[in-house]
Parts: sequence; C-alpha cells; structure tokens
Amino acid sequence: MHTAIKGVILAGGLGTRLFPLTKATNKHLLPVGREPMLYHLIRQMRLADIDDILVVTSTDHMGDVVRCLGSGEDFGCSLSYKVQEKPRGIAHALALAESFSAGQPICVILGDNIFEYSIAPYVAHFRQQGVGARVLLKDVGDPERYGVAALDEHQVIEIEEKPTKPKSSLAVVGLYLYDATVFDIIRGIAPSARGEYEITSVNNAYIARDQLRYDVCRGRWTDAGTFDSLAEANRILGETQNRILNQD
Ligand code: G1P
Repeated sequence: MHTAIKGVILAGGLGTRLFPLTKATNKHLLPVGREPMLYHLIRQMRLADIDDILVVTSTDHMGDVVRCLGSGEDFGCSLSYKVQEKPRGIAHALALAESFSAGQPICVILGDNIFEYSIAPYVAHFRQQGVGARVLLKDVGDPERYGVAALDEHQVIEIEEKPTKPKSSLAVVGLYLYDATVFDIIRGIAPSARGEYEITSVNNAYIARDQLRYDVCRGRWTDAGTFDSLAEANRILGETQNRILNQD
C-alpha cells in the first residue's frame, strides 16, 4: 500500500516577465508543446500515483484555470482550487493548502516547472523516507536565478535564494516533498528582504532539523517564466509531443 501523498500545484503570480502573453490569462495556461502548461504538472503527479490535487492561483485567473482543467475527470484525478489573493511568496501560497492536506504528506510543484522525465522515482524515495522534506537538484549554467544548494559529502547544508555569488551550480528545482509539519514551519518563518515568504526559508528549516534529503534531477528541466525558458519548455515537450519519459 502506498502512503497517500496529496498534490499541490502553485500557479499564482502575475507572470510579468512574459507580458503581453500574460495580459489576458495565467502564465500556467500558456501553450507548451501541444498542451497548456498545467497539463504537464497534472500528468507528472498522476505518474507518481497522486490523485488528489489542489491548484492555487490568483483571483484574476481562477476562472480561466477552472475552465481549462475542470474537475480532474479528464486526468483521472480530483482537482480542488484555492485563491491566493496577493502574490506574497511561494511559502505563503503553500500555507493555503493546510486544510486540503489534512495531515497527509504533500508533493508541491511550481506550475511553471517542466521535466523531461517522470518525477515518480523522487516521490517514491520520499515515500520511503517517511518524515522530513525532499528536494530535487539540477546542475545549471545560471544558478543565480534560483535557490542554490550547498552540499557537504552527504547532504544539503544550506540553500540560498538567488545568491549573487552561488556556492555551487546546483539549482533547487520547483518540486518539493514535505511531511505535515511544513505548515508549522511556514508559520515560523519571516518574510525575506524582497517581502516574500520564501520556500527556501522552509527548506532551510528542515535542514536545521537534519530532515532534508535530495535527489538529482534526470534529463532536461526548465522553468517557463521567461521568454527564453518558455522556449526551452516548448523544445522539451515539443520533441516528445508532451509525452513524459519513463525512468525505468
Ligand atoms: C522559485 C524559488 C527558487 C527555485 C525556482 C525554481 O523562484 O524561489 O528557489 O529555484 O522557483 O523554478 P522563482 O522562479 O519563483 O523566482
């Protein structure tokens, strides 16, 4: 029997870096390959045996998101929705998932992250891990754009959000696995210098408890928040006609 893990897709934000593509609708509904971006996230979760999924998005675009995704029937899952009134950071958006998660562990994906390969093995590793948190790392050429992990010979010892002098080239990808204590952790964090409740603060709290583990992401990965990265997302999923590659 699998531990039931609930899914949370964070699809808020204003998508200002993609203006005017995001003038009329949500960034996460833009086409990637042959499908709206959010289809990819739901398909990824389904491959990882997650069938109860919450989508968090902004007031402006909730109508479009629900029109696009519906009840989840087409994907063989149940979809619920929650509104984030103001973009106050990823950890703030995640806090809205507390009642939905109902004490279960959660798999959180940022709605603009595209993965060439299935995320199922990383979720399986977390099921075995049982407690704490698990993140996914990817060697990138431009780490200063991301949360960046510093490692000792065994573990992640620190994550810095968008450092000017990155300590490694390992970006923390927008896929996070958390046990139910994540909501207590979020209540304890303070906003960063840019005024946002950062997911990196949450991950560093798990590091302080020695409860953060990681996998390295196989194959290509990108976010799709800029014109260049949206083009890369289209290349990745365009080549496979939106099929996600199996890791077996
Ligand atoms: C967010 C996170 C960052 C992470 C990135 C992955 O940044 O804050 O730690 O590496 O997503 O896509 P954003 O792209 O929202 O600025």
